[in-house]
Amino acid sequence: MKQFLSVQDVPSVDAMVQSALRYKKQPLRHNTLGAGKRVGMLFLNPSLRTRLSTQIAARNLGMEAIVFNLSQEGWRLEIGEGAVMNGTTVEHVKDAAPVLGAYFDILCVRTFPSLTNREEDYSEALIMQLVRYAGVPVVSLESATLHPLQSLTDVLTITEHMPAHRPKIVLTWAPHVKPIPQCVANSFAQWINAWGQADFVVAHPPGYELAEQYTGNATITHDQRAALQDADFVYVKNWSSYKDYGMVLTEGPEWMLTAAHLRLTNNAKGMHCLPVRRNVELSDEVLDGPHSLVTQQAGNRVWAAQAVLSEILNPLNHE
Ligand code: CP
Repeated sequence: MKQFLSVQDVPSVDAMVQSALRYKKQPLRHNTLGAGKRVGMLFLNPSLRTRLSTQIAARNLGMEAIVFNLSQEGWRLEIGEGAVMNGTTVEHVKDAAPVLGAYFDILCVRTFPSLTNREEDYSEALIMQLVRYAGVPVVSLESATLHPLQSLTDVLTITEHMPAHRPKIVLTWAPHVKPIPQCVANSFAQWINAWGQADFVVAHPPGYELAEQYTGNATITHDQRAALQDADFVYVKNWSSYKDYGMVLTEGPEWMLTAAHLRLTNNAKGMHCLPVRRNVELSDEVLDGPHSLVTQQAGNRVWAAQAVLSEILNPLNHE
């Protein structure tokens, strides 16, 4: 694996999940695989889980992880081709990327969308220029449109709770206090579709349709209650509108997932990537209840990151 930007970079979702599960059982089984190698982790926005779990994963493989809060401590990067840099940007990514490639064996980066210019956000210009100019494998720690490490973790967590029957998984929109990127929802849909082992339903109020390239053949509905019937897993997430790009079209407090919603399901497990706005997206009752998987999901971030770094270091290292 030469990069990890989406599920399309993964040779087999199942193989990655199994690799992560093996690391969960034996975290230090390859603790010299990355000896003498460095992973650079660039952040353009805040993180708790992604930053710490990836650092732990790198350390478990014997790698050194160096974190750089680029947006706060670095030069402001230019990404425009042919830009006349007489404004606020100080360094072109074309110049910075090869330097980072000289320092690191793997480059990880977290970017985020403007939510004002869909075409620009969905072009993933910064991360694609890092891929083009860094000369080392690039791993997404969340981009403008996708969050593949989170989604691998989510499939891994679902795998740990697989019922005997083909599960029904519902991705449901939830309210939030501000416009939120589509990346977690896009990515979850993309991974569940690629995994192919569940009936998949996406529920949201009108106007919140995600890009079809990610939802694929999922059943799309505006009726949350109908969607929740017989669900085995309910993944709760807010996202702003893709069509009216970045807009919040409805407050929709009735979409918050509560214990009453869970009673409609097949004893469904409740999932969320965190951080979560309690009693806005999900109720305390659900988050603190026996059906919540959110802490397990966050814990599994270590094993997902370890499987990805390991696959880049040694693609044949599945045993
Ligand atoms: N889920 C997730 O990516 O969490 P952080 O933003 O804290 O990394």
